[in-house]
Amino acid sequence: MSTDAIVLLKDDHKNIRTLFRDFENAGENAEKTKGRIVESILEALTVHTYIENEVMYPEVRERVPALEDDVLESYEEHHVADVLCAELSAMRPGDERFDAKTAVLIENVSHHIEEEEKEWFPQVREALGRKELQEIGERMTAAREKAPRRPEQPSALKKTVDAVLS
Ligand SMILES: [Fe+2]
Ligand SMILES: [Fe+2]
Repeated sequence: MSTDAIVLLKDDHKNIRTLFRDFENAGENAEKTKGRIVESILEALTVHTYIENEVMYPEVRERVPALEDDVLESYEEHHVADVLCAELSAMRPGDERFDAKTAVLIENVSHHIEEEEKEWFPQVREALGRKELQEIGERMTAAREKAPRRPEQPSALKKTVDAVLS
């Protein structure tokens, strides 16, 4: 199996897109199904964001200075997704805003994934060698083992933001 960092991240993206499609196809009243799908979305996004934040993004920032702005923008997009995930994890599928919030999460993350795949991953591939991408991939696979699987609670997230901003 390939350990190429970009291949691994694109595999994750594919799974995430499938879950998004499952949610959109679940139908108006399928509360239970939607609740289950959103659980899977939250887990997939929490793990994926963690390995990007902990390994891929810092590596790219260091090794490909031309992508600095893209990486910083992507961190901010992760933050928006984290907030939505945290809020969703505290909601029930029957709540009035559950479907709307999930739809906004899907829109945001789809856009973000598109930018990663079309705009900056190709530049990363061009700038780094195969061996470097494999090393980064191996480190991401190790990070995946210790990644959190549930979003932080909104109150904990707020504390994190306050700590960063103070
Ligand atoms: Fe990302
Ligand atoms: Fe990603």
